[in-house]
Amino acid sequence: MAGMSSKKRCKGSLDTQEQDRDATEDFRDYMADVVSKGHTCLSIALGHELRLFDVLGDFDESKSCRVIAETAGCKEGYIKAWLRTMVSGKIVEVVENEKGETLFFLPKDRLSSLTSTENNLACLTRQVPIYSTVYPDVVRCVKKDGPNGVDYERFAALDVYWEETNKMMHNSRKHLSFILNQIPGLITQLENGTTVCDVGCGPGHRANLIAGMFPNTKVTGIDISEETVAIAKTKADELMLPNVTFMSADGTSLPENWAETFGYVTMSDVIHHVKNQEKMLAEVHRILTPGGVFSLFDFDVHERLADNYGKPSASVMYAFNLLYDLPASLGDDGESGEGHGHHGEVFAHGHAPDDGHSGDDKKPETVLEGHSLEEVCEGFEKPMNILRKVGFEIEIKQIAETLECHIIATKKK
Ligand SMILES: C[S@@+](CC[C@H](N)C(=O)[O-])C[C@H]1O[C@@H](n2cnc3c(N)ncnc32)[C@H](O)[C@@H]1O
Repeated sequence: MAGMSSKKRCKGSLDTQEQDRDATEDFRDYMADVVSKGHTCLSIALGHELRLFDVLGDFDESKSCRVIAETAGCKEGYIKAWLRTMVSGKIVEVVENEKGETLFFLPKDRLSSLTSTENNLACLTRQVPIYSTVYPDVVRCVKKDGPNGVDYERFAALDVYWEETNKMMHNSRKHLSFILNQIPGLITQLENGTTVCDVGCGPGHRANLIAGMFPNTKVTGIDISEETVAIAKTKADELMLPNVTFMSADGTSLPENWAETFGYVTMSDVIHHVKNQEKMLAEVHRILTPGGVFSLFDFDVHERLADNYGKPSASVMYAFNLLYDLPASLGDDGESGEGHGHHGEVFAHGHAPDDGHSGDDKKPETVLEGHSLEEVCEGFEKPMNILRKVGFEIEIKQIAETLECHIIATKKK
């Protein structure tokens, strides 16, 4: 970052003064960019919520603000203001016709990121306005004499957000194909028929999706929460998927007779909730066939804060922790703490209780109650090292759009 090494420089020379001035200006440019992108982000969220990108995407040619507003069922003045922010934010393109009229269009190559129901990146911007609703309360919490946390109910909009992003991003077919394609040969194996286990499957979105996409493959979803497993089963029945089964089990001690059973094991957003990570990852190793592959998805943050300097996924994760995890987990009992004890749930974020994640039915000592700033930001190095220790060969891929990292671990043959 600009200006960081100024102390080391010899003061007084003209060169040094010039360098300092450049560094200051670079930093001011950087700050202006941050502010500008923040405004663009909020405006994208508004466009996404009002389906304005879909309206633009449906046109075959550029249209005037009036036509766009009418088609969207919105007021022209507001749409004019919105289109201005979208053009200056490089999201929507603008042309002038021969009459000098300003016309707007959304280039085809942006449609899939902004309008489709799958892999829709615009939906991710919605998190920012949701934080804004509790922002004044969080500010009060930070102060020494302020309240400890914010009532969890105040974050209700996040549950709707997660449900939406789950469908549009994390567990969309397109995203699943993208991540499966990161493992050479896996799609062919799944098409031909193999065995898959999703450990900590939650309400079964991913397991059901894999089962639906690959009818020759047998999928098993396991989760410690019986309530969650019941939801997953109901969804599989609704989808009439004969090749998926769900059962309640602790990922740290899976059935004895599962040794070398699965060709592919997946685990998403689970490992940082688990106290005995080594036990769980050793179990994954045990249940995989030799040469089988394990996909571990978790936050794309490093263990050392300094390594996260300028890392986009880390700033999103840390902000999430500051603006949601900490205030929500401290909101109930009013006790000071580290972010634990969030509604007494097995985990602290990500899903509404009716999404099957309340986890009150079983609370083994292997599972943390919520997670603290430290746990969330523990970094992917820890599970990576454990994976090596229990016998895996590993490689790591970053998934920019979901801000996760995908650790691909192969059991030696
Ligand atoms: C944040 S949710 C993620 C759910 C799902 N994998 C997804 O990506 O939507 C974490 C899940 O891990 C489960 N879990 C936590 N500890 C577990 C354990 N020891 N064994 C099995 N499941 C566990 C929780 O019950 C919860 O459903």
